Amino acid sequence: MPRPDHLLKTLAKAIGRDAAILELRWMKEALRVGRPERLPELNLETMVSRRAQGEPLQYILGTQPFGPLNLLIRPPVLIPRPETEHWTIRLSQTLTPSRDKPISLLDICTGSGCIPLLLCHLWPRGSVRAVGFDISAEAVQLSMDNAAVCGTPSASGAGTCDQNVFTPILGDVFHPATWSSHLLRPSFDVITSNPPYISREEYKSLPPSVKDYEDPRALLGDPPDSGDQHGLSFYHRIAQLTAEMKLLKPRGLLVFEVGDKQAHDVRTIVQEEAGIRDTEIWQDPWGKERVVVGRS
Ligand SMILES: C[S@@+](CC[C@H](N)C(=O)[O-])C[C@H]1O[C@@H](n2cnc3c(N)ncnc32)[C@H](O)[C@@H]1O
Repeated sequence: MPRPDHLLKTLAKAIGRDAAILELRWMKEALRVGRPERLPELNLETMVSRRAQGEPLQYILGTQPFGPLNLLIRPPVLIPRPETEHWTIRLSQTLTPSRDKPISLLDICTGSGCIPLLLCHLWPRGSVRAVGFDISAEAVQLSMDNAAVCGTPSASGAGTCDQNVFTPILGDVFHPATWSSHLLRPSFDVITSNPPYISREEYKSLPPSVKDYEDPRALLGDPPDSGDQHGLSFYHRIAQLTAEMKLLKPRGLLVFEVGDKQAHDVRTIVQEEAGIRDTEIWQDPWGKERVVVGRS
């Protein structure tokens, strides 16, 4: 059994002493409160060894805070990022749905379900019916598990009209069959999406902690058959569908998270391809242009 100071030394070598002290504390806490069925094979030594090899802490702990929520996290589903949490909270403060004036929300590329689940949590009870879809079966299962953890029922479950509802389904943005699902029938008050947006060139320089653990499908913005579109393929597709299928209600919001230096290109896509002239760009807490919001 390695001594705790040995574990601290191993971890400090990999991530620095201050971070190692903090993370060791979180690992011990996760072992203390974690249910054995969720952390079956884990002990502190295994956790430290995985972390020292570069695995993201969230995959080891199995959870990640997102606003007031504590979401389940499992590889290879994308770990929700703080910038996404930031704009989701801002969006929750931009609109004021109520039980008398409920809204419908579509979250495209939902991953862990973090965006709709946080909105369902922050908005009043009975004020939102959300649906989300993702191409990854692991992501859809995780978003369902997260909905259960957050106490948010799905439309097919036992939800009543005084509850917010989130229904995750399997679907592919680029596959026409997805768009014939009755759950995606237009129109929506709000469409959110944090789609994959990394270009093929940029993907090569991602750190191993991202590239070796997170699903490439969650990162690469141009699917193999789409050619190189500088990571913008999803924005083109979603904007075009928004116009063709009239996915948004009048005065509805289209909210896109974007990658580094993509905001102005995505604003043009929203204006020219979705036909939405009224747009704004939101910055993240680090001053980067991070979100394009269009109002139809
Ligand atoms: C950047 S992640 C965002 C996940 C989550 N919304 C978040 O903010 O953490 C993008 C997600 O898009 C999904 N995805 C990739 N290609 C897709 C496609 N063609 N159709 C639907 N979802 C797709 C991935 O599986 C991944 O979960």
